[in-house]
Amino acid sequence: MSRLAVVCGGSRGVGRAVSRLLAQRGCRLVVVSRRDDAARAAVAELHGADHKAFSCDISKGEEVQKTFEMIQRMCGNISYLVNAAGINRDALLVRTKPEDMISLLHTNLLGSMLTCRAALRSMLHMQGAAVVNIGSVVGLKGNAGQCVYSASKAALEGFTRSLAKEVASRNVRVNLVAPGFIHTDMTAGLREEDRARAVPLARFGTPEEVAQAVLFLLEASYVTGQVLVVDGGLQLVM
Ligand code: NAI
Repeated sequence: MSRLAVVCGGSRGVGRAVSRLLAQRGCRLVVVSRRDDAARAAVAELHGADHKAFSCDISKGEEVQKTFEMIQRMCGNISYLVNAAGINRDALLVRTKPEDMISLLHTNLLGSMLTCRAALRSMLHMQGAAVVNIGSVVGLKGNAGQCVYSASKAALEGFTRSLAKEVASRNVRVNLVAPGFIHTDMTAGLREEDRARAVPLARFGTPEEVAQAVLFLLEASYVTGQVLVVDGGLQLVM
């Protein structure tokens, strides 16, 4: 039986590219997204059969638990979990609303913690099980106008390293990919001409380029607790 991969935030952007690549590599995909129609549309375009769509708001503990129980019941044990769901609410700290702080932390940090917690029991049964969380280069370096977003991603890095230690003896690996500017809906409001000047490779990355890094970490059987930066060299000059 082929490996079961769950991709949270798999309906768009980076998550969608990861889902496509894993399906091409023969995985059975579970695409998790907030909206059912978006998850279904992403599944419809995947290579191969046997893929499933689930709608779930990953920031809600009970909903996550129920969704993952259903995934295990309907699809079997999980080999790969990719946490690509995320939001940004860029603003200076003094202009950031408390409710936006909460939804950022709930989605970007708590959401990935909840999905890991819900998936792990099932993953312990599988040989070569692995988690990849999606952080950000901003979580490593900080950025004005992104205090809460960068805090959520920095904390996700700490969570990734700690969980890697916690589950290594059970042969589950946990790593993090930290992208820079990537062409997705999240960066649609940014002018590439302006921002790309700061990037050594002088362009934004593509979701497919991030997906390659995710695939590497899912398959890298002696790598755990690591951060792989995919940013065209941006962190070198931040
Ligand atoms: P996107 O906005 O294109 O896609 C985000 C996905 O997350 C969507 O499928 C959305 O439905 C899902 N999502 C958001 N909140 C959710 C929730 N509460 N429950 C379930 N699903 C939810 O964003 P993109 O660019 O693909 O981002 C993917 C990840 O990469 C995010 O964690 C983001 O923070 C991170 N990232 C993106 C960068 C970029 O330049 N695009 C740079 C660095 C990190």
